[in-house]
Formats: sequence, structure tokens, C-alpha cells
Amino acid sequence: MTEKEFIPKSYSNTIENGSVTWSSPSNIALVKYWGKKAHQIPENPSISFTLNNCKTVTKLSFSKKESQTDFSFEVYLDGEKKDDFKPKIKTFFERVEVYLPFLKAYHFKIETSNTFPHSSGIASSASGMSALALCLMSIEGELIETNVIPSAVEESHFIKKASFLARLGSGSACRSLEGDLVVWGKHDEIKGSSDLFGVKYPYKVHPNFKNYQDTILLVDKGEKQVSSTVGHNLMHGHPFAQERFKQADKNLSDVISILNEGDLDKFVALVENEALTLHAMMMTSMPYFILMKPNTLEIINKIWAYRKSTGSKVCFTLDAGANVHVLYPEYESGKVLEFIKNELVAYCQNGQYICDVIGLGANKL
Ligand code: PMV
Repeated sequence: MTEKEFIPKSYSNTIENGSVTWSSPSNIALVKYWGKKAHQIPENPSISFTLNNCKTVTKLSFSKKESQTDFSFEVYLDGEKKDDFKPKIKTFFERVEVYLPFLKAYHFKIETSNTFPHSSGIASSASGMSALALCLMSIEGELIETNVIPSAVEESHFIKKASFLARLGSGSACRSLEGDLVVWGKHDEIKGSSDLFGVKYPYKVHPNFKNYQDTILLVDKGEKQVSSTVGHNLMHGHPFAQERFKQADKNLSDVISILNEGDLDKFVALVENEALTLHAMMMTSMPYFILMKPNTLEIINKIWAYRKSTGSKVCFTLDAGANVHVLYPEYESGKVLEFIKNELVAYCQNGQYICDVIGLGANKL
């Protein structure tokens, strides 16, 4: 499949105005994407759990306009106008215009809200960009709609193209549309995998991973000192980059048997190794940087001590930030939540944490 296949042939309908609403979740990578080529092509494949509770809901209203020379849109977060979101969305529109040739024909009102606290340090780019991409795809759907019920091929094209567009907004956003495990990036052993869009993990997953829990500990809610765009770019010429890309590829191969067999010890080792490798890449970039905070390390040490003394399969992973995602199987929920409340919440900013669980992806509202 190539990019060209996402350029629509023609639109048969004309629509004056309307609105669509989508809800789309965040995701947490198990094998991390860090480093990209031009046009948001990942240097290595990644796999993530789709979340359920951390979501963005976006309503996109559109009305036909006279002039088609420029993009025209306004953005609101929780009802408040957000002009500082506009440059990122404009860049996104510029990147996807060739695939959505109706973009300059309409004025858009983008009204968005997140279910997780604003400035919680949880990136809303994955949920936000995937929700926006889905809204745009629904509009395209109306422009080409016939009276025939969409075929399975058309439905799969819709989701693929929405993921493809989301990727152009924010790489990891392409893994947020479906659940509960999504792979992005070409991998020889994963059927259908592509650098262009995310695909549902196609193989057997052991019941151990059903309803897997993710409690997100909000360690630091401040703005990140280094954006992920800058971080990805620092992988160019990074002394360990090539080895890292090979390692991610190998880890994805290993994940296949771990998921199949339900081997939680191997899962814990792989996931924590991935998290620390991601941060090791940051620490060994030039310029170097550290996104973990002292409390991130306190939490990691507490998790290791708890695992050692109880035999629990709880583990952690990290995004590009200081917050800690605590992952554990559903059958350990009660005990691990007690442990979190008793021993980890003290390290969270204002005692804040979010209980989430693996989810099934985006929904049209
Ligand atoms: O999607 P971006 O460009 O914000 O990059 C996200 C990278 C990580 O969250 C650190 C890893 C991942 O695979 O999600």
C-alpha cells in the first residue's frame, strides 16, 4: 500500500454544512517509537495498548465558504477559544490536504475536550489528533456516500486512512483508533503491518492480558522541557540509534510469543526495559536531557521492592515525560490498587492518579 491510495478520486456529493463528533482514546506503547524519518515514518515498529478512560471528544462543525485559497478554522478547548492550538492544526491541514482535497472549501469549528485533566502531563496529541482525523474522515464519507451500506473493504479503508491521517498529525496517534493492541511500523512477522498506519494486532492474545490495568501516576504536570518532536530528531546521528532500532524490532518479535503464552515475567522485563531504553536514548542524545523526576525513580524503586516481596506481576512504563504508567493484570487489581494508594500516591503531584484499563478504540458519537 502506498500514500497514493489515500488520495480520493472524486467526491460525488455536495454538502453545505454539518457536524460530526468522535471520541478517541490515548494509548500507551509497550515497544516504543522513538526516532522518525521524513513524513512521520517511524524508524522502528511499535506496539501499544489502547486506553479506555483517557479520551478526547471532538466535535467538528463545517460550513461551505466562498474562497478556497486558505484554510479557515477556529479551535475551542472546553468551550474556550484556543488560538495557541492553531499552528499545530494548520501544519496538520497542510500535510493532509492532498489526501482531503475538501479542506479549503469549508470553514471548520473544532470543539474539543479531554476526559483527563488538562495539563496533567498526559499527552493529548494521540487522542486529539486521532479524533480530528476521524471527524475529517466522516466528512469525506458524506462527500462520497452512496445509498449502499459500506462494504467491509470500505470500512477497513476508512479506518486505515483515518490512522494514516492521524499519523501525519502526531505519530503515535495512528495507534489510537482501534483496540486493544495496535502495531505501527513494518515488521516482518506481523501481517499487514505498515509504516503508514496502525493495524490491530492480528494474533492470539492470552487471557492474562484481558482488561489489563493501567494506573497513571501524575508525577509532574508541568510542560515538558523537551517536546517529542525535538526528541525524535535527536535520534538522527545518535551513537546508539541503529542498535536501538534493531532492538525494538527484536522486542516486537518477542512480544508475539509473550502475548501468545501469557508470560507475565517476560512481559514485565520487556516493558520495563523498553521504558528505560527510551529514557536512556534521551539521556545519551546531544544535547542530552532527562524527563524523569526524582519521584519517577522513587516509584520505580517501590514497584521493584513490591514485586520482590509479593511476587506480583505489576510493572511500569513511561512515556516521554515524568508520569508513571503502572501496568498489572486484572486479577491483581485489588491488591495493586491498595499498594498504589498506600505507597505510591505520596509521590504524585497533589496525590493525583488516573485509573485506566485497556480499551477498544474510538467511537462515533
Ligand atoms: O507521537 P509522538 O511524536 O508524540 O511520539 C510519542 C513517542 C512516545 O510516546 C515516547 C513513544 C510511543 O511509541 O508512544
